[in-house]
Amino acid sequence: MSIPLTLNQSHIAASKLEELFDTQVKTIHQEMNKGTSEGADYLGWKNYPNEIPLNELQDALNVAKKLRENADLVVVIGIGGSYLGAKAIQDALSPYFEKKPGDPEVLFAGQNLSGAYMKQLVSYMGSKEVAVIVISKSGTTTEPAIAFRILLEYMENRYGSSASERIVAITDKSEGALRELAVRSGFATFVVPDDIGGRYSVLTPVGLLPLAVAGIDIEQLLAGAKAAVHDLSNADIASNSAYHYAALRTHLLAEGYNVEILASFSPNLEMFNEWWKQLFGESEGKGGNGIFPAAVAFPTDLHSLGQYIQDGQRMLFETFVHFTDDAEDCAIPSTKENLDGLNYLSDKTVNEINDVMMHGAMEAHQDGGVPVLRLEVAKQDAYHVGYLIYFFQLSCAMSAYLQGLNPFDQPGVEEYKNNIFRLLEKPGHVTR
Ligand code: PA5
Repeated sequence: MSIPLTLNQSHIAASKLEELFDTQVKTIHQEMNKGTSEGADYLGWKNYPNEIPLNELQDALNVAKKLRENADLVVVIGIGGSYLGAKAIQDALSPYFEKKPGDPEVLFAGQNLSGAYMKQLVSYMGSKEVAVIVISKSGTTTEPAIAFRILLEYMENRYGSSASERIVAITDKSEGALRELAVRSGFATFVVPDDIGGRYSVLTPVGLLPLAVAGIDIEQLLAGAKAAVHDLSNADIASNSAYHYAALRTHLLAEGYNVEILASFSPNLEMFNEWWKQLFGESEGKGGNGIFPAAVAFPTDLHSLGQYIQDGQRMLFETFVHFTDDAEDCAIPSTKENLDGLNYLSDKTVNEINDVMMHGAMEAHQDGGVPVLRLEVAKQDAYHVGYLIYFFQLSCAMSAYLQGLNPFDQPGVEEYKNNIFRLLEKPGHVTR
């Protein structure tokens, strides 16, 4: 089997990076393994692909099967870490237009507060057999709670006492309003493990159940993640690509490159970019620190942000994610009259030109003073996406630790939540 993921970069010699970071990386690695690093109570994701209880995986597959049989539309409610991972993987691994036979449509709610979105969603649900999965670790987040209240009323009005058979809640094992509501209403439930925070939770039921419902092979996803746990278990920058990436970005930050742009060349990776932005943004952006995570989808954004990347302020570095084995492709036809002048490309395919675009953009940006990193991932399938997810989670934790930060808290997110409760005059809320 080919190597699932490789990191290419020419910014700094690997030996120099080792000289700079080896000792620190080894110390952090040991502390994470011993559970003594800061925030270690939230390191549960680190070995979860190997530890997920078999009965839980089977339960997820069984519940997914039932929902798939009974619904042609499943609405998944959640925000942040309770939304982005599932949506990212669903988009990355599903067809662009027509869904596969037998797969329900999966839509998301609770990630916005648009009245029009909710009104139109409810109206759209009326033409389908529906089910709802509501996900909130805390069980108290305002946006998904509002969406769920609206959809719960809809489900009860439509399905009466059998509505509860069409609703699944994924939340804390005992705390929070959603847990109490689920228990009282008799919904099927899954637990978000105590020791795994939202943005590290996509390989738990939070991501696995919606993905299984959408027809994604979650066993392959976990198999890829398990392979990554195995491959990325040593402390050496030279052989651990996640630590190499973490050390490199920390080095770039020290050199003044404080914005990282994740660049992809497939439109179905746009939500993957969003998942990555949350992972790194919430893990590092605290106390006046961190690399600002931005993302682009090329070639679309070559025609918008391309100018700034090439020629704007020099504080950017770019990480290209490239899936090397394109499963599907499209030939460029030759025409007799060649009126558009494109016959010179007619021995090529669309993906081949996309690859040329990528190399052209990388070279131009590098020449423009943007350090360029390239992650080559062997295939855009469930196994390799699972591998890539774990790669980023591990490198994110190491990156934050290298910057002296706790990768697992998000005190800034709480600030706006407090303001919302104050402004909405939530009963029992104490203004700080
Ligand atoms: O990563 C995080 O912790 C946050 O983005 C949360 O996932 C987000 O706020 C949603 O929280 P909850 O799952 O408790 O509703």
